[in-house]
Amino acid sequence: MPLSGVEVAKHDNKDSCWVIVHGKAYDVTEFLPEHPGGQKIILKYAGKDATEEFDPIHPPDTLDKYLDQSKHLGAVDMSTVAAVEKVEDPEEEERQQRIKDKPLLEQCYNLLDFEAVAKKTMKKGAWGYYSSAADDEVTLRENHEAFHRIWFRPKILVDVKNVDFSTTMLGAKVDIPFYVTATALGKLGNPEGEVLLTKAAKKHNVVQMIPTLASCSFDEIVDAAEGDQVQWLQLYVNSDRKITQRIIEHAEKRGCKALFITVDAPQLGRREKDMRSKFEDQGTNVQSGQTTDNSQGAARAISSFIDPSLSWKDIPWFQSVTKMPIILKGVQRAEDVLKAIEVGVQGVVLSNHGGRQLDFARSGVEVLAETMSVLRELGLENKIEIFIDGGIRRATDIIKALCLGAKGVGIGRPFLYAMSAYGLEGVDRAMSLLKDEMEMNMRLIGCTSVDQLNPSLIDTRNLGSHVTPVPRDSLGHTVYDPLVPPSFKPPKSKL
Ligand SMILES: Cc1cc2nc3c(=O)[nH]c(=O)nc-3n(C[C@H](O)[C@H](O)[C@H](O)COP(=O)(O)O)c2cc1C
Repeated sequence: MPLSGVEVAKHDNKDSCWVIVHGKAYDVTEFLPEHPGGQKIILKYAGKDATEEFDPIHPPDTLDKYLDQSKHLGAVDMSTVAAVEKVEDPEEEERQQRIKDKPLLEQCYNLLDFEAVAKKTMKKGAWGYYSSAADDEVTLRENHEAFHRIWFRPKILVDVKNVDFSTTMLGAKVDIPFYVTATALGKLGNPEGEVLLTKAAKKHNVVQMIPTLASCSFDEIVDAAEGDQVQWLQLYVNSDRKITQRIIEHAEKRGCKALFITVDAPQLGRREKDMRSKFEDQGTNVQSGQTTDNSQGAARAISSFIDPSLSWKDIPWFQSVTKMPIILKGVQRAEDVLKAIEVGVQGVVLSNHGGRQLDFARSGVEVLAETMSVLRELGLENKIEIFIDGGIRRATDIIKALCLGAKGVGIGRPFLYAMSAYGLEGVDRAMSLLKDEMEMNMRLIGCTSVDQLNPSLIDTRNLGSHVTPVPRDSLGHTVYDPLVPPSFKPPKSKL
């Protein structure tokens, strides 16, 4: 006999808290203090259907994994559950209208166009999580702008009739030197989540890095891959190493081809857009002097397990538990690349986490220039595979990175935005646009294959100056969503 909605609704407080997820009831009373996102958000749904809020943040196997079976109360007759009151929300109505009026997919000509559409069509909280970066977001903008300080020195009169920009990354043959980097919470942007990125990656023969904190379960993302499609695992290291070991072994068994350990996040950065939108989404009464929501945005809510004591001393342990190549993601200085070579890992990603961690961290491409000159001087340039990510929006950015010596680049937000605004077709188009740009720019620089890209083709004299001489009305500036101060009470006339 399924439970009735009336019965579930009785358990609507912290002394007895039941919630419904996908038609089943769960007793989460004892779990309340442990919830990484804080109690408040669960209590908002106490006695009610929490599916819509639950889905983007939790992989579907979460309740089976983390909530004791005795707390699984069974099916609920959903016809007896009171529909969640739809409060009139003029902002949401406007958003729905904008979704109807959005540009045709064919009107998006470059990656920043997807960001412009996503900004106007995504839910506020989702946009807050994807677009936010640390503190004043200086590194976020610098990531993109650093590429504007590298100029080309193209060769002319080269036969460029046939251009091939395929390459190999960590042994995987790919059509173009970028990969889909790990970005958490795919379902905030699209109800299907990360599996859409898997499908697009397959179509374009590029690698997908699976995030530890995906909205889909790890197995769903691996199951969505086809044939010999290559996937890598991004790992946040849990303070409980047994959990980490289980994740690594499972990934290796399921065929993941590399392990990217994130090393730039011993604590999550303060991402104020995310914090502010979460705060507002929860309808907290800012004016009443209540304490603020302690979950501090989606990012902090989901990451409390990450081990801040992770250090170089742990690397041999990772090497002892897996045969997958190990890559450190988030390296930010040449000295640490030398250490990475010394400890025998196979690669590094020069990255600042898309500007979401340490503000005023330098861009990956600047660190790349610094690193390659040190490695070349020491004759170590072939000892390790070097990747970068952050701010890559054009094929010219990819070419610049490869000229400097990167094996490939990771791209994060643009695919999230394309997926949020236009679903799979959007990601497909974003990748096609990059391929078109790549073909044209390889020709224009006078190269027919990626092994011809070298430092003589670029002028980096201004790279380290941190002054970008581009017009402030460049596309990147146009789509950038500035930080805003806290809002005042609306004037009485508007209440
Ligand atoms: C919404 C979002 C979520 C992210 N989640 C993760 C994550 O879970 N693990 C991780 O190592 N990096 C994460 N990153 C960082 C990306 O892997 C990558 O370093 C960054 O997005 C590259 O910059 P870009 O967005 O400008 O391309 C995330 C980035 C974004 C934008």
